[in-house]
Amino acid sequence: MRTFTKLKMAYSYCNSLFFLLSIFLASSTFALGGNFYEDFDNLFGDVRVDIQELGQSMTLTMDQYSGSGIVSKNEYLFGRFDMQIKLVPGNSAGTVTAFYLSSQGNNHDEIDIEFLGNLSGDPYLLSTNVYADGVGGREMQYYLWFDPTEDFHTYSIDWNPDRIIILVDNIPIRVMKNRKTIGVPFPTKQPMRLYTTLWNGDSWATRWGAVKLDLSNAPFVAGFKNFNANACIAKNGGANCKTFNNGKYRGLDEESKTKMQNILSKWVVYDYCRDLRRYAHGLPFECRKDNLLLDQSE
Ligand SMILES: *[C@@H]1O[C@H](CO)[C@@H](O)[C@H](O)[C@H]1NC(C)=O
Repeated sequence: MRTFTKLKMAYSYCNSLFFLLSIFLASSTFALGGNFYEDFDNLFGDVRVDIQELGQSMTLTMDQYSGSGIVSKNEYLFGRFDMQIKLVPGNSAGTVTAFYLSSQGNNHDEIDIEFLGNLSGDPYLLSTNVYADGVGGREMQYYLWFDPTEDFHTYSIDWNPDRIIILVDNIPIRVMKNRKTIGVPFPTKQPMRLYTTLWNGDSWATRWGAVKLDLSNAPFVAGFKNFNANACIAKNGGANCKTFNNGKYRGLDEESKTKMQNILSKWVVYDYCRDLRRYAHGLPFECRKDNLLLDQSE
């Protein structure tokens, strides 16, 4: 009898736990983990999007007719997004493999990681950019310290109200601090969708468009796996995301700062903040010396 009551209690306890859990999941504004089937819709390229392993991995293909891509079902406002990517091998000149967040409509916000392909043996270029209120032009470009076509590597966007951090294998390569207080636009209001695409960018991508896609190498295939989001799913324009992470955002620890400095000193190919030709009439505000130093120190 006793055992029975106990069991019954345990049962109802489990039941209510289960009940609470289902409520939590149903109304959850938190995305943890990730699955290509559940979290994305096909954006273009039809069967060129090939999802495998019950949604844990995917290939995107580009052939002579089309590239391909996916877009997240949810809109997010802040979060960390990780994707393991193995880039198109061989002659990938003209191809662009992209992993980015973007809002829709006018004055859009966007956070980009793009890989610009190259001739066999020539290095890929990793290009990053941030748009806020429709204004971009904040490119930073890097060569990678490994061959990104040989293995999967993890590329991440960590977007929170205080800063945007872009990471490669968990090493920060770029930090953009929120400097709205001094008038620099920063994305904090518009929910964004996450995109993963492979497309023909040969009008500009490789040596500014000089090297075209060589279709005799088609199809071009890039691999993706272990997508992970720890992010706030925006409801009602994102009002629910204001308290994301309880408002606590960590900056870089000393070790990460050192690692980033090392990357910045060796692997940066282009930095808009140093483009005096483009900004002959004055560098963007956030690029002025004091502000730049701030970026790296905080
Ligand atoms: C391609 O390789 C050339 C030669 O090494 C290099 O200048 C260029 O930055 C590389 N990447 C792209 C996307 O052009």
